[in-house]
Amino acid sequence: MPTTDLASALADVRALLLDEQHLVRAVAAGRRRGVQPPEHERVEVRPVALRSGPHLQVLFRSGPVVSTRNVPAAEAAAVVDELLALPHGNWHVETAGETLQLRVTKKGDAQVHRAAREGTAPAGPQAHDRVKQRLVDPDDPVFRVLGAGGDKRRQVEAFVRQLAPLAPAVLEQAGPVVRAVDLGCGNAYLTFAAHRWLAREAGGREKELRTVGVDVREDVLENGRGAAREAGLAGLGFARGSIAGAEPFEEGERPDVVLALHACDTATDEALARAVRWGAPLVLAAPCCHRDVQRQIVAAGERGPVVRHAILRERFADVLTDALRALVLQLLGYRVEVVEFIDSAHTPRNAMLRAVRTGSAPRAEHLAEFDGLCREWGVQPALAAELAAELDAVRSALAGRPAGDREAGDREAQAAL
Ligand SMILES: C[S@@+](CC[C@H](N)C(=O)[O-])C[C@H]1O[C@@H](n2cnc3c(N)ncnc32)[C@H](O)[C@@H]1O
Repeated sequence: MPTTDLASALADVRALLLDEQHLVRAVAAGRRRGVQPPEHERVEVRPVALRSGPHLQVLFRSGPVVSTRNVPAAEAAAVVDELLALPHGNWHVETAGETLQLRVTKKGDAQVHRAAREGTAPAGPQAHDRVKQRLVDPDDPVFRVLGAGGDKRRQVEAFVRQLAPLAPAVLEQAGPVVRAVDLGCGNAYLTFAAHRWLAREAGGREKELRTVGVDVREDVLENGRGAAREAGLAGLGFARGSIAGAEPFEEGERPDVVLALHACDTATDEALARAVRWGAPLVLAAPCCHRDVQRQIVAAGERGPVVRHAILRERFADVLTDALRALVLQLLGYRVEVVEFIDSAHTPRNAMLRAVRTGSAPRAEHLAEFDGLCREWGVQPALAAELAAELDAVRSALAGRPAGDREAGDREAQAAL
């Protein structure tokens, strides 16, 4: 690619950053050869409309630490000049009409690539403190092709909204090719929405995204392939097979992001187990029905009023299953939060397990809680059966570890949570 004078290339970037009507977002990242690395790994810029008027929002990221500065429009030029003077090696700018990539070469020149943009994010200031910016375009033609209704579109928007704060750290850590998998993808609404969003985020870091939707049903996968072709989406594919044995990428390639939306009953457990075995850094799973544990509670005989009535038993089984899943994931090195990802008006299955791999040592109290719940309710959850070998290793480690080391492990795990 031909090079150009860095100062004039940065002047082009400056003009785009100060065009508040058309700017969507911009990211400065990477470092230049032979100069002091920038203080912050990444700087992200986007226009926002605050009550006090249009602002340029600047996010400074260093690892997990993020600081934000909202700059009034009148002061934007001076701040943009400061940002352009930082020694980052790349700028990625998205406007309503185009994408500009600037890379600083070893010799200190600029390589610039500009392309018309097919993206959907609205340009200009976003009313951050009044209207939430959409991460998924509800009018994306792909949804029409796939036949997604309003509730499904809202679900995938809400799902991607949960992904948004956690994915950047994973994308930073990933190699040049980022891999995502949607297990039990069905009609692939989430697969498409997550792929579009992650591809933009990966592109901003000069990384390539590959996404695979996995399902046992060939007919839904064929629809997904057709929609991907029609939308001209690169890097998105579909693989037929059971979640338990899924190998969606080439040998030795593992997903960085594992998603599962309403994979039926124990298919969610298969998805979580698969993610653990891959060592996936980020796992988001919104479970569907929980029949497995319900059946076991019934089979275990009288367990008192909490589960005597069918409706209460059903609700309780949901809670118990997800509590046990969370404990299993924590024991196997994940930080876990169980959250409501969308209002129940749009789906009664609105809980989500958000799991980030920390590699923390297992904690004895988590194992005691897990064993206690299983004993009390007479259940053996599917996830524990899927990950029996891994949990056995945890038991041995906790039993065999000298007391001093175990306390250290507990402290590490506490710090990671
Ligand atoms: C309720 S649908 C949800 C589909 C999609 N994730 C969504 O939210 O629209 C569950 C999907 O999981 C698939 N599925 C269920 N068990 C599976 C398994 N063990 N392996 C692969 N796919 C499975 C089904 O074929 C179905 O398409």
